[in-house]
Amino acid sequence: MSTRKVVLAYSGGLDTSVAIRWLKDKGWDVVAFTVDLGEKKDLDAIQARALKTGASAAYVADGRAPFLELFVWPSLQAGAVYEKEYPLATALGRPLIAAMMVEIARREGATAIAHGCTGKGNDQVRFDVTTAALAPDLQVVAPVREWDMNRDDEIEYARKHGIEVPATLRSPYSTDENLWGRSIEAGVLEDPWAEPPADVYAWTRDPRQCPDEPAYVEIGFKQGRPVSLDGKATAALDLVTTLNRLGGDNGVGRIDHLENRLIGIKSREIYEAPAAVLLLQAHQALEDITLPKEVARFKDLVAQQWAQMVYDGLWFSPLRDALNAFVTETQTHVTGDVRIKLFKGSSHVVGRKGPQQLYQLALATYGQGDAFDQSAAAGFIKLWGMGVRTTSQVQGQLHARDLGNLLSEVKRLTS
Ligand code: ARG
Repeated sequence: MSTRKVVLAYSGGLDTSVAIRWLKDKGWDVVAFTVDLGEKKDLDAIQARALKTGASAAYVADGRAPFLELFVWPSLQAGAVYEKEYPLATALGRPLIAAMMVEIARREGATAIAHGCTGKGNDQVRFDVTTAALAPDLQVVAPVREWDMNRDDEIEYARKHGIEVPATLRSPYSTDENLWGRSIEAGVLEDPWAEPPADVYAWTRDPRQCPDEPAYVEIGFKQGRPVSLDGKATAALDLVTTLNRLGGDNGVGRIDHLENRLIGIKSREIYEAPAAVLLLQAHQALEDITLPKEVARFKDLVAQQWAQMVYDGLWFSPLRDALNAFVTETQTHVTGDVRIKLFKGSSHVVGRKGPQQLYQLALATYGQGDAFDQSAAAGFIKLWGMGVRTTSQVQGQLHARDLGNLLSEVKRLTS
């Protein structure tokens, strides 16, 4: 019997519990590894279940602070939102879990890592590619891609082998959770026309159950990283936990996204991400008032590229590193405070300020103290419009045709 060792990313759920036994039957010595990214799970129970199910060792590691500092904050600074909807909670968690697994594999002398991802999703890509990037010599085993069992088969397999079937199995949904958000898919959500039923949500209140008075929160940033709440210095973990609760209480952070998976499948996912929504909103508002116009515009392109790369499993890649250098440089003056108003499912920025803000009242005001030189505008616009004026003068037929078409359309639409 071979004694090859494998480190399995263990969640305590059905797939990975069955995987322990399945890997053992294939001759692997299985080390179970669970990383806490803020899921509020009973980690002791998970560890005990891993051992009971047949793992030779079971480790639990606290990944919460590194998750926020090394993965979430850089993505917040980048403004990364996948397809304008998804703040990337699950996608950001995977590369950290995989990296920590590589470390355990080295320590334990394992030759492989394993995960419980299916062959249809994005998470397999994130685990496999991260491992390829950090430890190309390690093998990746994905039992679910190999064993050809459906849910009922797995339950049957568990019964047969005396594997305790986790209670969470009663949920009709597949969920994943960390500090940056909760992802929910499957069940009735697979019908994209069906409104998500109330039992989908665990972090956020229905707007009808929210307080009748608005809530306010002030978020302070230093160089693009959130550092305080309502004027009080607050550590990352506390800050995100507080915003998840405050946002959730006020019904903020529900997202219904019909998304494009990396492997060409469209899928419907519900997200609850109160802290992510509030922080992205606040950070954007602070950039609005501190970033030069050209930097802000270009950074939008970087944000999209960043989000796509994180989604597609390319956190550890030369381009993401290079984008990170750009993003860091842009954050130099993104320091200040943003005030947000939360009310029955909505959140709005109602105030923003920073010591190095580019908004200058003396330039913007239409009231007293106007420092703007009105007479400078005419000459500027003369040059700005020079090209258009020249075109009209030299090739005037085009403009005449456009005007003629426009006026006849106006006539048609107003008669
Ligand atoms: N679709 C999301 C992503 O690819 C979440 C995946 C995990 N979701 C889940 N319900 N298990 O990042």
